[in-house]
This record gives sequence, C-alpha cells and structure tokens, in this order.
Amino acid sequence: MAEFEVTPWEVSGDIDYDELMKRFGTTPIDDALIDRMRKYGEPHLLLRRKIFYSHRDLDKMLDDYEKGKGFYLYTGRGPSGMTHLGHLMPWIFTKWVQDTFGAHLYFQITDDEKFLFKDDMSLEQTKDYAYENILDIIALGFDPEKTHIFIDTEYIHHLYPIALRVAKKITFSTARAVFGFQNSSNIGQIFYTSIQSAPAFLGSVLNGRPTNCLVPCGIDQDPHFRVTRDVAPGLGYPKTTMLYCKLFPSLSGGDKMSSSSPDATIYTTDTPKKVKKKIGRAFTGGAVSVEEQRKNGGNPEVCTVYKYFYYMFEEDDKKLRQIYDECRAGERLCGQCKMELTEKINAFLQRHQENREKAKDRIEEFMLRD
Ligand code: TRP
Repeated sequence: MAEFEVTPWEVSGDIDYDELMKRFGTTPIDDALIDRMRKYGEPHLLLRRKIFYSHRDLDKMLDDYEKGKGFYLYTGRGPSGMTHLGHLMPWIFTKWVQDTFGAHLYFQITDDEKFLFKDDMSLEQTKDYAYENILDIIALGFDPEKTHIFIDTEYIHHLYPIALRVAKKITFSTARAVFGFQNSSNIGQIFYTSIQSAPAFLGSVLNGRPTNCLVPCGIDQDPHFRVTRDVAPGLGYPKTTMLYCKLFPSLSGGDKMSSSSPDATIYTTDTPKKVKKKIGRAFTGGAVSVEEQRKNGGNPEVCTVYKYFYYMFEEDDKKLRQIYDECRAGERLCGQCKMELTEKINAFLQRHQENREKAKDRIEEFMLRD
C-alpha cells in the first residue's frame, strides 16, 4: 500500500483517494446519487467526473429537502496567501449548488487559523490575505443577496458563543487523537476546531430553528467535520452534511497545488506570460523524445496537463476523450496540449481578473458584520 498522509494542514505522498475515503469513513458518491441530483439540475462537471467523489449523509439531506426542509451552504478559506486555481475549484462547485438550490451560503475566512498554524505569519498578514481572497470569491459570481462572507477576527462576536458550546463538548484527548497535537502545540490550535465548527450551526442560530447545513470542501477538512458532526446532536442541531472533493493537482505532478511551490501553482492574479511559462514547465506523460512518443504514445494518466483538462478546463466529455485517445496513440504531442491549456486558462483568468477588479467596490455587499 502506498504511503501517504492527509491532514487539514499537510499532504504528503501519493494520495490513494479510495483508501483515504476508507480511512476517514466517508461514503462514495455513486452513479445512483448523481442521478438523483439530476432532478434539480444538470450535474456539474466536478460531480459528473467524480472530482467531488465522497460524502456524508447527502442522501439523508436530500430526503429532508424533498419533504420541504431546506438547507444552507457553508464553506471556507484559510487566508495564508494569494488565491490559486486549486482554491477556486470547490468554490465554483459551491456556486453551482447555490444556483441549483437557491441556497444561502456562509463563507468563513479563518485569519485566526492561519495565524495560529503558520509560524511566520502575523494577524495583519492573514487579514490582508483575507481581503485579497474575498475578491476572488466575489469574482466567481455568487449571489450577493444569498452570500454572507465573514472574517473570524471581525465576526467573532457571533461565532464565539457557538464555538464555546462546541468546545465544551470536545475533550483534549479527542482533539489530540483527531489532529495529532503534541505537548508543544500552542493552545490556540487546540481550540481552533470549535471555531471551524461554529458556522455549521450559525445558520440554525440565525434562523432560530435547527437547519440542515451542507459543506462542500476538500476531503482534507474531514477531521474537523467529524468532530462537528459528533457534537451536533448534543447541541440540538442536525449533523452537518458533507460533500468532499479531491485536491487540485500541482503542475509538478504532486497531488495538491500549493503555495509552497509557486512555480507549479497558478495564481488568479498571474499574467498570461507567467501562466504560459508555468504550463511550459509542467510535468506531463510525454515520452523522452518526439520519435518515441509518436511511436509508443504518451501517458495521460500521470499527466498534469491532462488532469487540468479533466478537472476544470475541458467541459466537453467527447473532446476530453479525444485528447486522451490522441495522446495514447502518439498523434498528439505535449506542446499542443500545453498550448491549448494555456489558452483556456488565460481566457478564464482574463474574465476572472476583470471581475476581481470590479469586486473591489462590492466587498460590503457580501460581508456579514457584527
Ligand atoms: N481550514 C480551511 C483551510 O485551511 C478553511 C475553512 C474554514 C474551511 N472553514 C471551512 C474549508 C469550511 C472548507 C469548509 O483552508
């Protein structure tokens, strides 16, 4: 079995996503469940291609929904740097859920978390990144009437009473077992998970009645939400429904795009030239020489450029299949794929950057304030 580790703070090794689901105890999203979603709208590409591939209690939440019980959405962002494509992926999906079900969304920005978990970051820095990241969220086109963004240190007045009730139900021994804390961990880290749980109940508190909550996010966040779900009944709230995605791959071939390798990461503010350069150096499934690739074909299974088509940038299933087949047959070389992907990403970023500029005057339309 391959060695790998996935925690909310670190990913190492080659992730086996089926194995991870077993370790965490989450349920696969199967074709029947996707079919069931079809009733509400054409399933999003990320669902159809099983990038969102695992869940907790989605079927139960849909049963409730069909009985007339609505739900709200909750997701979040830890502002430790500028936004990259990997961050946008679950947010794009969250917007699809909002559009499809008309659901309200609470968006938590955890400047406190990144201050506590990153040795070299000040609270001023994490707050600055919070506002940068918020521009990217707004730029994706969420409904301002139904989207409520908050920064932990600024909205703490509302979060704190909920976090306290959560915290009282979690022992140190549970937190240590779930997150692997040590005696040397700072005590803010130990408390933090109760702050990430709070928005899962915030909707119930603001509505004045227990309300179902759906959280679309990376599967690396599951340790937090296992705790959230365990404490929910004791607080009189429904267990949070989870929808989990795989992590967006790095351009260097790793499993997670990460700011720790900026050259293998595409930021939302990158220029077309930078994007071209980064994709030019991407890890592909190409052979050592053109002759050999023409003869034996390439390997899209390991190719990051192909993965980017698959995850986000080729919506047409037929075209995707064609790229795959042509690569395998040696009819298509890496240069062509890289050029096509560069064009697609740059077209996407051009629009995104225009919307991001406009978002600068719209922040308060979206902020939830004390
Ligand atoms: N811990 C997440 C991160 O580091 C941020 C976050 C807070 C979050 N609440 C969330 C992510 C809810 C997904 C869902 O990025």
